[in-house]
Amino acid sequence: MSDALRFVDITEDQLDAVMRVRARSFGVMAAGDREQWLKDARVFIQDGRYVGVADGDEVVAAARFWDFEQWWSGRRVPVAGVAGVVVAPEYRGRGVGSKLMRGLLQRAVDRGFPLTALYPATTVIYRHLGYEFGGGRYRFSFAAADLRALGGKEVGVRRAGPEDAERVLQLVGQSHERRRTSGPLVWPLKEVTEWLADEDNFAYLADDGFVVYSWSGSDLCIDEIVAGSEATARALWATVGSGSSIASTVQAYISPDDPVHLMVEHEAYKDVQHQRWMLRLLDAPAAIAARGFAPDAAVEIDLRLEDPDVPGNGGDWHLSVADGAGELTPTQASGDVLQLGPRGLAALYSGTPLATLRGSGLASGGSSTADASLDPVFAGPTAYMLDYF
Ligand SMILES: CC(C)(COP(=O)(O)OP(=O)(O)OC[C@H]1O[C@@H](n2cnc3c(N)ncnc32)[C@H](O)[C@@H]1OP(=O)(O)O)[C@@H](O)C(=O)NCCC(=O)NCCS
Repeated sequence: MSDALRFVDITEDQLDAVMRVRARSFGVMAAGDREQWLKDARVFIQDGRYVGVADGDEVVAAARFWDFEQWWSGRRVPVAGVAGVVVAPEYRGRGVGSKLMRGLLQRAVDRGFPLTALYPATTVIYRHLGYEFGGGRYRFSFAAADLRALGGKEVGVRRAGPEDAERVLQLVGQSHERRRTSGPLVWPLKEVTEWLADEDNFAYLADDGFVVYSWSGSDLCIDEIVAGSEATARALWATVGSGSSIASTVQAYISPDDPVHLMVEHEAYKDVQHQRWMLRLLDAPAAIAARGFAPDAAVEIDLRLEDPDVPGNGGDWHLSVADGAGELTPTQASGDVLQLGPRGLAALYSGTPLATLRGSGLASGGSSTADASLDPVFAGPTAYMLDYF
């Protein structure tokens, strides 16, 4: 790799160069998308979240990260959502992508993000940097006629609009807290308002739930559905299913643990779309302190973490979980304690059983007794996201 390569902040006058690298990486952007992309890019730049690698003055790689929050066991944790990682073809395979991502990780650490997540186009580079699968984005398809038959006619459902954005956010929050959800991103009020104002989206509200859906070709597609009771779930799903005379299929971005799976007569079609996203801890004590835990989960255990790219995570730690909260404090461990690298830590955090981590070489040391006490602490509903970024 040339010595002239520098990690840089992208500036506005470099956006054309970034766009050229993007075109060679993801395809040429439709003319209509260019303005929105530039508008977003300026926000990333102003906020120090658009970074790159330059050879002399020429930008040869770029990446940006969103300032998101993500639910972890019913609590909101800040997460740097990495996107648009691109390296010019003539610079690939020479460590430029790794240099870019190492700089980005440091930037996200400096900005105080306890977590980072991304959708990988290739896992190799991100695994080298400590990311591991944290959850998925699932799209299930159902026979619309099955959903129509779910009933719920006694529940009042009305059209919703932008003025309902606050109520929608409140319902989302209540649902994730109650279910101790992990994975979904938290959207700001402004974006939720825009989403509900979009005439192409059909939004319906009940007392304890809502649904937002739209056409996807000749199918209907649910962006999000939240129901606080069985009756409301039936009513909202049936509202979408009422389109069965025209749309035979309803697609839905939902959790694999959504109650609908246990209510519809026929299971979802076999063509489930499942995209995995990866997770990494950037500040292990902050990530543990910010997330939720089941109220009855309890453990006192020493761990040894190794993390060359984020040295602050490394060393011996004592993990203490009780009363729905966790704490990671520095300690001097003795004996054969559980040892994890960043990938093992990310996978454990997102609920992967220790047997899987040992079986894939991501955990060592410790004991089976310790595993049996640690697994239930991080277990919970499957982590999922609704959004792609
Ligand atoms: C993916 C990409 C960013 C990697 O950049 P790069 O500069 O080639 O990466 P590096 O040279 O630092 O490689 C890091 C590791 O990833 C591996 N790698 C890079 N690209 C890979 C690919 N397409 N498939 C499999 N492994 C890949 C390298 O072999 C290396 O691993 P190794 O050290 O074990 O050999 C670059 O190829 C690119 O821009 N691709 C097109 C756009 C894209 O897919 N972006 C990712 C979006 S999530």
